[in-house]
Amino acid sequence: MTLFAAGWGCSGGNLRGMQTWDAITSRRNVRDFADRPIPAADLDRILEAGRRTPSSQNWQPWDFVLVTDRAQLAELSRVFSGAYHVAQSAATIAIVGPTADNPFRRAQFDLGQAAMSMELAAADLGIGSCHAGVADMTLARQVLGLPADRDWAILLSLGYPASRPLTPVRSPKRRPFDEVVHRGRW
Ligand SMILES: Cc1cc2nc3c(=O)[nH]c(=O)nc-3n(C[C@H](O)[C@H](O)[C@H](O)COP(=O)(O)O)c2cc1C
Repeated sequence: MTLFAAGWGCSGGNLRGMQTWDAITSRRNVRDFADRPIPAADLDRILEAGRRTPSSQNWQPWDFVLVTDRAQLAELSRVFSGAYHVAQSAATIAIVGPTADNPFRRAQFDLGQAAMSMELAAADLGIGSCHAGVADMTLARQVLGLPADRDWAILLSLGYPASRPLTPVRSPKRRPFDEVVHRGRW
């Protein structure tokens, strides 16, 4: 993604830095996807971004299940009411982790980082993404063929936006900067 006109909030004007910042500011949750496949090389790049994610003691507690089959996507979308967008996605990556009671819940943190790495890699390619929780883990296990020692997962649906291509979001719906950021002390 190259949005040279963006030109805000980026120090130094470095081209690579600009591209990273563009991906960060352009990423938003996309739930309406165009009926257009994502090239296999781009899907692999997104997955590679996940694989490169740092993790506690480098234990890499994640596995990624890539789903592109339309019927399987429809079935997978039934795991949670908030996962409806999975059915229409060009691809969905199930990010699968170990049991949720791991010490310090560090796996959840690591998988969250992997999700964000993949979201930014997708945004960089102009590909939208959206999370979905998994409420019916039994159905997810059945659809994805998960092993018995994996008991939670989150879904990341992917696709080109049906409307509004990814461009920097000027006013994100977020708490104000000065309310969130504390300098030195709360
Ligand atoms: C851990 C997590 C779980 C989420 N689960 C869902 C979900 O089940 N369904 C959904 O449509 N969006 C889900 N979202 C997306 C959030 O609603 C979204 O990130 C938030 O509203 C901000 O949207 P924006 O980044 O487009 O501004 C989830 C996000 C996170 C981080």
